[in-house]
Amino acid sequence: MIQILPETPVLHAAAIEDLFDRTFGPGHFAKTAERLREYSRSIPEVNRVAVLDGKVIAVCRVWPLVVGPNKDRALFYGPVAVASSHRGSRLGLSVTGEALEAGKAAGWPAAILIGAPSYFGEIGFTVTPKNQLLFPGPQDQARVMVRDLAGDASQLSGMVTGLVVRA
Ligand SMILES: CC(C)(COP(=O)(O)OP(=O)(O)OC[C@H]1O[C@@H](n2cnc3c(N)ncnc32)[C@H](O)[C@@H]1OP(=O)(O)O)[C@@H](O)C(=O)NCCC(=O)NCCS
Repeated sequence: MIQILPETPVLHAAAIEDLFDRTFGPGHFAKTAERLREYSRSIPEVNRVAVLDGKVIAVCRVWPLVVGPNKDRALFYGPVAVASSHRGSRLGLSVTGEALEAGKAAGWPAAILIGAPSYFGEIGFTVTPKNQLLFPGPQDQARVMVRDLAGDASQLSGMVTGLVVRA
């Protein structure tokens, strides 16, 4: 039976990195979305993994963000990946949906995600008005989406930056 669980780094982190390598390849780190993650840390209690027979078969990682001049807080959802052997039953939406519930329960006001609107629209993400959110690099605005968590995502506006974590 597939279980959807919070990430326990000591158990899951290496398998998640393997899944990302297999799914996205090295080009992944060139993406603008990666600029939001590079000096940040995802939140294990909000991240979700799908585990089958002890193996990680899907993941959604979640990162803290700061948005615009008011320094509003938001969560950045992604990457989302499903092992190629287990695609076809919307498992990516299941792990992301549970991570959304966890973010809301923790009191985060809003979620931001860059991806396919036809897919992530199924779990409540909507495309933002063009240039309402700006990113530290080139970004196709038609793929920028938000979703309410405990607050109002439509209030978010301005430059999106990752929350820098100092070692
Ligand atoms: C995207 C991904 C997570 C979807 O896996 P899944 O949850 O098993 O989804 P399914 O295969 O059940 O597909 C569900 C629907 O979404 C569509 N879909 C799948 N991947 C899509 C994508 N990248 N863009 C747009 N639509 C997509 C499918 O065609 C299907 O549509 P249908 O119901 O009309 O046939 C998986 O294909 C994957 O890991 N891809 C590589 C990584 C990636 O692109 N991640 C998303 C961006 S962070």
